[in-house]
Amino acid sequence: MSNVILIGFMGCGKSSVARVLAELLHYSWCDTDDLIEKREKKSISDIFREQGEAEFRKMETQLLKDMAGATVKTVISVGGGLPMTKDNHAVLRSLGKIFYLEVSVDTVLKRLAGDTSRPLLSGGDAREKVTSLLAARNPVYKELADKIVCVNDKEVVKIAEEIREALV
Ligand code: S3P
Repeated sequence: MSNVILIGFMGCGKSSVARVLAELLHYSWCDTDDLIEKREKKSISDIFREQGEAEFRKMETQLLKDMAGATVKTVISVGGGLPMTKDNHAVLRSLGKIFYLEVSVDTVLKRLAGDTSRPLLSGGDAREKVTSLLAARNPVYKELADKIVCVNDKEVVKIAEEIREALV
């Protein structure tokens, strides 16, 4: 298996799990949001504010295409909305095995309380936003995933170990 892909909603712990899993597997680690911020030399919030979500989604798709074929032995954590672009699915599948870190609305709200870095959750009622976004995304994440890992109340190391075991 050349790479491991972690998908899931904002706050599910993708990047923390990716770092630990990469250590366990002796793989590299990268995160699509970090790579886009480096490419654009600005934060995700600034990209959303200055260029809008549609442009950000194009950046995600372009980044994935650039990674395909050029990325090996890497645990890749993927921005929560990236799987919602159906055109990204084939590239994601070609990159490696896909794990969906499934999380509840309550866990997301607990983890992201006070967070200001997610433009899609800023302003308005956070519970309402998370509930409706998660309901729309859950079926897509599930369809795309090779394996679903429930992450509520689990430690990062436990989640990483569970994924490692599923890889052998
Ligand atoms: C988004 C999730 C964020 C980031 C952007 C949009 C989304 O990544 O890509 O704010 O649409 O769910 P994380 O899932 O790493 O928070």
